[in-house]
Amino acid sequence: MSEVERNPAERPRIVVIGLGPGGRDHVTIETLEEIERATHRYLRTSIHPSADMVPDAITFDHLYDTVDTFDEVYRQIADTLAAAAAEHGEILYAVPGSPLVLERTVRHLQARNDVECDIRPAMSFLDVAWARLGIDPVESGVRLVDGHEFATAAAGEHGPLLVAHTHANWVLSDIKLALEEATGDEQVTILHALGTPDERIVETTWADLDRTIDADHLTSLWIPHLAAPVGAAYVRFHQLTRTLREQCPWDIEQTHQSLIPHLLEETYEVVDAIHAIDALADGGLVVADTGNHRIVIVDPVAATATRLDVGRPGSVDVAAPVVADTLVLPAGGRLEVVLDLPLQGDALDAGAGAPVRVRAEADPPELLLGGQEWTAVSLPVTVSLALAHEPGASGRVTVELLAATCDHAACRLRRTQRAYDLILT
Ligand SMILES: C[S@@+](CC[C@H](N)C(=O)[O-])C[C@H]1O[C@@H](n2cnc3c(N)ncnc32)[C@H](O)[C@@H]1O
Repeated sequence: MSEVERNPAERPRIVVIGLGPGGRDHVTIETLEEIERATHRYLRTSIHPSADMVPDAITFDHLYDTVDTFDEVYRQIADTLAAAAAEHGEILYAVPGSPLVLERTVRHLQARNDVECDIRPAMSFLDVAWARLGIDPVESGVRLVDGHEFATAAAGEHGPLLVAHTHANWVLSDIKLALEEATGDEQVTILHALGTPDERIVETTWADLDRTIDADHLTSLWIPHLAAPVGAAYVRFHQLTRTLREQCPWDIEQTHQSLIPHLLEETYEVVDAIHAIDALADGGLVVADTGNHRIVIVDPVAATATRLDVGRPGSVDVAAPVVADTLVLPAGGRLEVVLDLPLQGDALDAGAGAPVRVRAEADPPELLLGGQEWTAVSLPVTVSLALAHEPGASGRVTVELLAATCDHAACRLRRTQRAYDLILT
């Protein structure tokens, strides 16, 4: 239909064809017929071995050199094509390989409602890759990954992975560095100029993947297997945060706003810890997370991090040993305990809420009645424990005091305990 005869109710049409992986014999008859039929031809890029099969085409190569981001290039191409289609009624748009594989401009066109996008199937470089590798991509569960987004797109994956968009050696270097756990001996295959007379299939190792060939727009990477998944630590972290968000009552309550004070507090703790680096003769670094009752001792030399959870055996700063006194008290009465500990020049740290916490525990638990946890803002603390009503009951009551403290260099958790053997009369 000519431009003059076009029904205004019909949307302008863009016929999208693919030029195959590069070899002329991989271009379909349908594609050749569409090229022949078209009066207005556009090419995403002329830097493709079969680009000359689309004569008299307008290309977008200049945009790749002048526009800052790939996203903006793709958007401008789609806008220009839509405007051309509106002007001419129908245009032809040719891309490398298959229009449906990693062609973002085609996705932009499909999403528009001011043009009709008529996509013709074509052969992709992937078809040659499967043939050369001798695999069925569906049965082997290959994931296709964009090399520019390797660290995030391949996170948690063990492979097999086919990585495209590896058009420069720096992209390959970024991929190499994304896998911290790699030994360097892992086998990978570089697939270069598949389906063209210059085809090269090069086996190499993870360590050498960025220095085996000069990568270009026809370079892809095959990773059959990764011993450790990419970004395993990130994936584990993500799983942990999801679990906490679903199951931890404290985490479920949080909003972006409620996290602001904690963000500030953690920042101060990191700054304090950095100050403390010089202070410790052995190079160790104490990172105290007072809000979570947790202390991490980082030893940069041994590359270890030891976590100490307050309240468990092996905790920190036990200021006074447990003292077991035997007391005979009336049933239904109260046990008054005064708790204190030396701050050794520190000040109580109220940044994360009440800096003093007291917990009482009884064995058997029925020995105590009522609340068994208290908070306070200063020391010493007096707690009054309600005792069971049964004369003759006996057992042990342990009272523990935790105090969050800071000096100018670091924050600490200090702990002291007292224990009493009780006989109720
Ligand atoms: C934007 S994608 C386009 C893919 C294309 N639509 C197709 O289906 O073949 C371009 C990437 O595909 C890969 N590629 C394209 N042609 C290739 C070929 N002949 N050999 C190896 N890789 C190729 C490269 O990784 C390149 O960076």
